[in-house]
Amino acid sequence: MDALLHDWLSLLVRWLHIITGIAWIGSSFYFVWLDLSLRKREGMAKGVNGESWAVHGGGFYHVQKYMVAPERMPDELHWFKWESYMTWISGFALLAIVYYWGAESYMIDRSVLDIGPATAIAISVASLAVGWVVYDLLCHSPLKSNQTAMFAVLFVFIVASAYGYGLVFSGRAAFLHVGAMIATMMTANVFMIIIPKQKIVVADLVAGRTPDPALGAAAKLRSTHNNYLTLPVLFMMISNHYPMTFGHEWNWAIVALVLAAGAIIRNYFNVRNAGGRGSALAWQWPAATILTIALIAFTAWKPGGEIVVEDEVLTPEAVAIVQTRCLSCHATNPSDEDFDEAPGGAIFETADQVKARAQKILAQAVLSKAMPLGNKTAMTDEERARLGAWIRAGMPDE
Ligand code: HEC
Repeated sequence: MDALLHDWLSLLVRWLHIITGIAWIGSSFYFVWLDLSLRKREGMAKGVNGESWAVHGGGFYHVQKYMVAPERMPDELHWFKWESYMTWISGFALLAIVYYWGAESYMIDRSVLDIGPATAIAISVASLAVGWVVYDLLCHSPLKSNQTAMFAVLFVFIVASAYGYGLVFSGRAAFLHVGAMIATMMTANVFMIIIPKQKIVVADLVAGRTPDPALGAAAKLRSTHNNYLTLPVLFMMISNHYPMTFGHEWNWAIVALVLAAGAIIRNYFNVRNAGGRGSALAWQWPAATILTIALIAFTAWKPGGEIVVEDEVLTPEAVAIVQTRCLSCHATNPSDEDFDEAPGGAIFETADQVKARAQKILAQAVLSKAMPLGNKTAMTDEERARLGAWIRAGMPDE
């Protein structure tokens, strides 16, 4: 019953998280597009910086952007913030349900660092806060006026965080935390900077004061960062189901490649929406494609090379390895207290069951170290290599 409720909680909150995420990213992509599609023309009203026409849902929209603000407040003003807040709230809830609740299995890897659940959770929460503080300091430093330098420093900071997370958490948790840290920065940008600055502008208007253009500029800097971080964050979130990413020993390098590729793809759309054509749009897809090929090649490479297995590995030995290291979870009645039934329906009690999932075992426990989860059963590299040799040799029985 416990497991059923836990799974339902996880599914429902994941559902909410995806819905709010779509709403947030959808509206933020829309507004970025809108901003870039604005064009100036003769005779626009005072304070109007540009306008855009669009057709959708059976009618025409005529949008005008006032910079910094209109002369007087409209009667009704729509804000866009709950999409972002709810995405973070549901995301944090999901982090707690999956990772904090199952810390022993999902967050901790004792071959990485021997810590308890309370310590792991404390590190997780603190790191999200620290990530924001450091990023916010960067945005207030002289870097803020040099966009390229700022992005370069942000890139190094995020890759360094990925490396740091890899020193304390399992690969899976490390990778997800990079995504969670970036997403926290993005929501905090909305909550701590963009909306408060917008509120000051509105208050100024109501009071008849002229709003300070610096307020809009500061908000713009943050929303540009959010824009470029969106695609990489989504990759970190979904790659949790792909062991070749988080399960790679140098998963911080994968973070670096994904950050670059995601930002470049985003740049293509930004430039295009702003009216860029020809050579301005020629380099992004080739560059992103090269980076993606590099990413795939990188995941096929193992730092330090493979352990060479000299002798032949036969079925009884391979099955014994699997039974020693995997049965605590992958059994009809798992002995691991975090699991009431075999995860993913994968049961490895007999040789036939192991053989039937050989390719998945190869992906999860040989090509990557995604399994055993958190290396809870302390599988050795030697065992991984021998299991791999057996599968690659066609699983000989004798
Ligand atoms: C501590 C518990 C635990 C141990 C030990 C463990 N696993 Fe898993 N395994 C899981 C969980 C949980 C999942 C589901 C992961 C997910 O949701 O992505 C899983 C998923 C898998 C899958 C994917 C199933 C599918 O059909 O997609 C394979 C394959 C797998 N494990 C193989 C192994 C192998 C091989 C071992 C031993 C070397 C092992 N596991 C040890 C918990 C464990």
